[in-house]
Amino acid sequence: MPTDLAIGIHDLSFSTTSLVLGHDELSRHNGTDIAKYHKGIGQRAMSVPTADEDIVTMAAAAAAPIVQRHTADRIRTLVLATETSIDQSKAAGIYVHSLLGLPPQVRVVEVKQACYGATAGLQFATALVHRDPAQQVLVIASDVSRYDLDSPGEATQGAAAAALLVSADPALIEIDRPSGLFTSDIMDFWRPNYRSTALVNGKESVTAYLEAVEGAWRDYNAQGGLPLEEFRAFCYHQPYTRMAFKAHRRLLEACGVQPDDAAVESAIAATTGYNETVGNSYTASMYLALAALLDSGSELTGQSLGLFSYGSGSVAEFLAGRLRPGYREHLRGDAHREAVSKRRAIDYGTYRELHERTLPTDGGWHDLPHQTQGPFRLAGLRDHQRIYETA
Ligand code: CAA
Repeated sequence: MPTDLAIGIHDLSFSTTSLVLGHDELSRHNGTDIAKYHKGIGQRAMSVPTADEDIVTMAAAAAAPIVQRHTADRIRTLVLATETSIDQSKAAGIYVHSLLGLPPQVRVVEVKQACYGATAGLQFATALVHRDPAQQVLVIASDVSRYDLDSPGEATQGAAAAALLVSADPALIEIDRPSGLFTSDIMDFWRPNYRSTALVNGKESVTAYLEAVEGAWRDYNAQGGLPLEEFRAFCYHQPYTRMAFKAHRRLLEACGVQPDDAAVESAIAATTGYNETVGNSYTASMYLALAALLDSGSELTGQSLGLFSYGSGSVAEFLAGRLRPGYREHLRGDAHREAVSKRRAIDYGTYRELHERTLPTDGGWHDLPHQTQGPFRLAGLRDHQRIYETA
């Protein structure tokens, strides 16, 4: 087997919800100075799921265009990463497998480690492809970020799914071999099984994230990674977009470089376009940052990008990818921009009602209202089972 085989991201597609709450509307309700949202945390809006949208419908919507373009002929594995799991036993990806009409000869598994899960999925996928370069792996990150109403975290909610097709000889990005890891047992953000909203020590979570940036970068260096000056841009996990700017300052400091605003801006600005209006999509977030950068129109062929994935609790990884020749012909910028722009704006009352809604747990038959604009929907519940359909 050739050791110089290029393996990486062959296609990238994301989807989000049908509804959006603007931070201006949120600030009108809670009296927060809008500058805190727009400048302080760098957020303008957040995606809100309708009653018939969830991680499965978003995941299928993100992956469907990939299967349409490439067929499922070479896909032998589907990894769905989420921290918004809908079942303690059955993998959410099996519903996605069914909605996409994938063949039975595809293994499906769900992985979880907060917002880091999809990056673990990406690394597992590259190993599978290395073992058999004829195979492709579909990695899907799908999450709905939910905090308590009227809590500081409320302004950092959101929802999206990102689907990656991992392949040999990838059309978009080759993933380099060295990567830097950093794991630390901390309680910065978590969600016990009996809760639908996350618990968070906000300030501690920011400190933990920044320590993880430094820790993962130091390990990346120890593993023989590229020096700082080789990188053209950096895609960080973005729980809110200002976090990426903080993270990059910390990385520059760790390299002994005095962070100046222009250098930080030029490394990060093109990565925030989707996340500032979608909000935190947990494990999909870093991949929306990557999509924003690729769709921004810059010519990046042959350039290296730094990717930093952080999952509270915590596990972090720094890895590098290089843009492949001709990658711009395979992007989905129009579809991504449409996914974001076609969302329907809702008022605070509608958002609050949807936030407070819970699915019945009585095992009865319950139909859900048809509200999504997306291609798939959660039609109802029957005998404790979720019923999905093509919308
Ligand atoms: N104009 C401009 N800026 C303003 C402002 C104004 N009127 N008012 C406040 N700001 C600035 C503050 O100075 C602050 O900037 P710095 O971070 O540079 O200090 C920023 O806006 C936020 O203000 P506060 O710290 O006062 O905000 P807060 O107490 O409401 O908490 C938060 C912010 C901790 C991010 C909170 O929203 C939260 O808990 N979010 C969820 C947790 C989170 O996202 N953590 C990130 C790391 S963990 C992770 O990444 C995993 C994950 O996905 C959850």
